[in-house]
Amino acid sequence: MRLDIREEALTPKMHGTPIVPGDLEHSEIIQRIFAKDARVMPPPFAHKELTETQKDTIRRWVAQGMPYGKETDPTVARIEMIPEQAEMARRGMY
Ligand code: HEM
Repeated sequence: MRLDIREEALTPKMHGTPIVPGDLEHSEIIQRIFAKDARVMPPPFAHKELTETQKDTIRRWVAQGMPYGKETDPTVARIEMIPEQAEMARRGMY
């Protein structure tokens, strides 16, 4: 199952539709990553647990209607700190 391919994420599978944009309750991946029972994904045997931050990022992405960026969209490649040894303060942004 490829979630980076929009059409595939929208196509109903055996257990439901992976993603219904903007609809957390009907998006199977949301039900799965937050599941407390045997349906939980990724499955324990895979040893690929998601952090709470990662789960929340996926949840917000689905809630926002699963926007996909284009290959050509700008990305942040580097952030220079001045002075160099300065640290950014955490303000609960992540
Ligand atoms: C964030 C990561 C993952 C997500 C969001 C996810 C999501 C899902 C979803 C939505 C289904 C149901 C598909 C259907 O309707 O037929 C499913 C099934 C399944 N997935 Fe995952 N999966 C993830 C990672 C993994 C990994 C890492 C493995 C194995 C190494 C795995 C193994 C399976 C298996 C065996 C099934 C079929 C059995 C079942 O439905 O419980 N998944 N997954």
